Amino acid sequence: MVISSIKGSKISDIVSYLPLEDVAKTSAYYLARHSVETIGNSLYTFTAMKSGRKKSSNPLKKIGLAVGSRADAGKAIRGAEHADAIVTGMTLARDLGNLPANICTPAYLARSAQQISRQYKSVQTKVLGESEIKRLGMHSFLSVTSGTVLPAKLIVMKYKGAGRDKPVVLVGKGITFDTGGISLKPGPGMDEMKYDMCGAASVIATMLVIAKLKLPINLNVVVPTCENLPGSRATRPGDIVTSMAGKTIEVLNTDAEGRLILCDALTYSRRFKPEVIIDVATLTGACVIALGHHRTAVMSHNDDLANAITDAGVAAADRAWRMPLAVEYERQLKSNFADFANVGGRDAGAVTAGCFLSQFADGMNWAHLDIAGTAWRSGPNKGSSGRPVPLLTEFILERARALP
Ligand code: BES
Ligand code: MN
Ligand code: ZN
Repeated sequence: MVISSIKGSKISDIVSYLPLEDVAKTSAYYLARHSVETIGNSLYTFTAMKSGRKKSSNPLKKIGLAVGSRADAGKAIRGAEHADAIVTGMTLARDLGNLPANICTPAYLARSAQQISRQYKSVQTKVLGESEIKRLGMHSFLSVTSGTVLPAKLIVMKYKGAGRDKPVVLVGKGITFDTGGISLKPGPGMDEMKYDMCGAASVIATMLVIAKLKLPINLNVVVPTCENLPGSRATRPGDIVTSMAGKTIEVLNTDAEGRLILCDALTYSRRFKPEVIIDVATLTGACVIALGHHRTAVMSHNDDLANAITDAGVAAADRAWRMPLAVEYERQLKSNFADFANVGGRDAGAVTAGCFLSQFADGMNWAHLDIAGTAWRSGPNKGSSGRPVPLLTEFILERARALP
């Protein structure tokens, strides 16, 4: 509230007394971090696509934080530094989400990733084109991009902060526009499918946060990105494709495309021997029905990993809720013709999507985040939220033992 009144004013210095509040189960670090994060996020504006003279950037230059005791000052400063990096990441994720699909194309996403490598020498980015994607045997991924003229890309980023340790791998769904393909979506609200790359945006943005904080951890980011359009070369319902893992998939619904690009990205990621692998995707409308806009869905076969993610969500004020994975649901994906179908019917749609991905994560320490409800807000204040950058950052801060 206070912050929204600062927005658009000429105020350049503020002091927040929020870190003085005595809140149970929290610390100077989190009080400072959440204060700064909230201020930074509420100052966000998206004017890139407005014509005419842009309003000059925010005049706010300094944020002071009041802390209760001298002993807490160090922790509060740490919290403010972490918040600054998180806000930088969320701003990138929000910008990428808000940009329309005619600007934010697969090639644009790839350039944004390369930009981070130019800024941080600790980050290496490699972008694979369609011929290399084909050579890898990613025919499931390629089946999604076949209806569009825009070339698909596989973006691979590597950050090295911990020598030879096995990396954390984040995989993000990068559908820059989802029409549904031949299984065309209804017209109203279809513009919102420009947000179908928010998983990709959040993992690329998390890479930026981690590089900025120079965390002692190894992090890889893998983003399969393309458009899902109908066309004379588009995949038809009933077509059967062979994934990179060799498993065959009957594409009963071309609108269930996220899992088709992610399964090949998961298989590709095996080469990194991940310590843990998390995919992040605006995967299902069913997830929005189940959890609304307040909780990201988490699915994993590993209880410790699922708990670590939900705990990170609580600490980061970017909450997640676990949903089950089990054979009963897996059976819904049975196909008469291929190894499995890409849809499992209306029932438990978020879970059957997770079950589909789990078939490709065999033997890996894997979790899936469905951010269909949390990645953006609809309505008059429509816009990208920058979630789950805070959750992912918290999870990595914890693993890097970088929390006070
Ligand atoms: N990108 C959508 C999921 C989505 C829908 C996110 C609405 C946010 C709001 C995804 O590709 C999709 O279309 N999923 C289908 C799956 C179905 C065909 C099994 C869906 O949810 O309807
Ligand atoms: Mn779809
Ligand atoms: Zn989609």
